[in-house]
Amino acid sequence: MQEATTRSIYDFHAFFYDATFGRLVKRRIARAIGHMNIAQTDRVLDLGIGTGASLNYYPRRGRIYGIDLSSGMLREARKKIHERGLQHVSLLQADALRLPFADDTFDHVFISHVISVVSDPYRLIREAQRVAKPEARIVIVNHFQSNNRFIAMFEKWLCPLCTRLGWRSDLVLQELIRRTGMQVDYRFKLESIDLWETVVITNNKSALPVLAA
Ligand SMILES: C[S@@+](CC[C@H](N)C(=O)[O-])C[C@H]1O[C@@H](n2cnc3c(N)ncnc32)[C@H](O)[C@@H]1O
Repeated sequence: MQEATTRSIYDFHAFFYDATFGRLVKRRIARAIGHMNIAQTDRVLDLGIGTGASLNYYPRRGRIYGIDLSSGMLREARKKIHERGLQHVSLLQADALRLPFADDTFDHVFISHVISVVSDPYRLIREAQRVAKPEARIVIVNHFQSNNRFIAMFEKWLCPLCTRLGWRSDLVLQELIRRTGMQVDYRFKLESIDLWETVVITNNKSALPVLAA
């Protein structure tokens, strides 16, 4: 799905996201942010921050930069910032595949339910690796294709429908690792049966591959 289509899908989602998907993901987001160990002077990048479901869970220290393609989703995030007086948060409308930040800017990057939404998930990770400092923590929350052959077949079959709704269901974590050189420290699910997974990575720049397509 191309970014212009994604933008209009999420401009529409913005009206009901918090009442629907946003409710489902809150606990997972809270737990994932807990694994970032944000210090007083840290800079955190929240890629595809959406309506700001994460904003309740960041500590009131450090500086949070949220970017998103969709002005509708950002409007909802702005309301939260205003209502809760979150002066340590800045928002920017931008494309996560072409980040307007210099190399080695951030201490943490959070990517929650976004990788399977962008047109090029590998490029998204490489951009995160570029703007994150060496040894920064990158935390990803996402659905990845199951290792179970039958569930994986079902997920592939479901993919055209999911794409219409704004995400894909067939992203393979091992392929993401292979093509980006990202080094996973650990990963976990909130429940034993859970569609989503949290993946915690240390940005080891020296391990990045010279990239093939
Ligand atoms: C499923 S929502 C997730 C929002 C939030 N991170 C969460 O977990 O609740 C996906 C978000 O990614 C944003 N997005 C999709 N493609 C993007 C891109 N190329 N650059 C920036 N944001 C993008 C969408 O606009 C949408 O707000």
